[in-house]
Amino acid sequence: MRIDIMTLFPQMCEVVMNESIIGRAQKKGVLTVRCHQIREYTDNRQKQVDDYPYGGGMGLVMYAQPIDACFRAVCEQAGTRPHLIYLTPQAPVLTQERAKELAQLPNLCLLCGHYEGVDERVLEALVDETLSIGDYVLTGGELPALVLADCVARLVPGVLSDEACFTEESHYSGLLEYPQYTRPAVWQGREVPPELLSGHHAHIARWRREQSLKRTLQRRPDLLEKAEREGLLTELDHRFLQTLSDKEKQENCGKSEDEAEP
Ligand code: ADE
Repeated sequence: MRIDIMTLFPQMCEVVMNESIIGRAQKKGVLTVRCHQIREYTDNRQKQVDDYPYGGGMGLVMYAQPIDACFRAVCEQAGTRPHLIYLTPQAPVLTQERAKELAQLPNLCLLCGHYEGVDERVLEALVDETLSIGDYVLTGGELPALVLADCVARLVPGVLSDEACFTEESHYSGLLEYPQYTRPAVWQGREVPPELLSGHHAHIARWRREQSLKRTLQRRPDLLEKAEREGLLTELDHRFLQTLSDKEKQENCGKSEDEAEP
């Protein structure tokens, strides 16, 4: 997959995308990320990228011209017209489901806005999709673009070493992931659940499924209801959920009531 990011802060994006797993995926050749400075595409001598909004008001609005020119250059470099996504809080919120679909595309281009956003005509003429990363407002689209790029890129085959890494984790199956432990078996008097030390694969799998169900019920009951509606719960899952006491259903973050902070 190739991801192009159009931004006024390309270095900020490069630093993040060249590190860790995403950086290694680029070196391996399974992923290409290119960051483009929108300012380089302005047709005015001052290299101005924004201006006051027509009709007045606070902040500055990014010009359409440099964004259009930058996107044309991206299309040329990529050898195709990528699916163009504009990051904005005025959009549907990114979900794991949408990330899975986007990971199937060979090319993505992400547009980062700043100030009061971009000229509306850019959205009409160029943008294929708008996405938000949550119902809060950031100073620009760079962090949202990096969140989206990371979330999508890690689903591209070959980016993570083992597919199980993401098929087991939170949100992939519609439930939150079960708790994880590593050595030592006892830490500050707290023991690893004995099921995990049993070496019995079927018991471990069942215990993990039950913990996923319990955790999703306690922390994100909305997700459990959705999983139920989508037919993702088995007869065994239903039976387990019925065995949970009212107290267990209300516990949160793995803490019992005695431990929970007031
Ligand atoms: N730009 C500013 N805030 C944003 C958000 N929450 N999601 C996407 N883009 C944004």
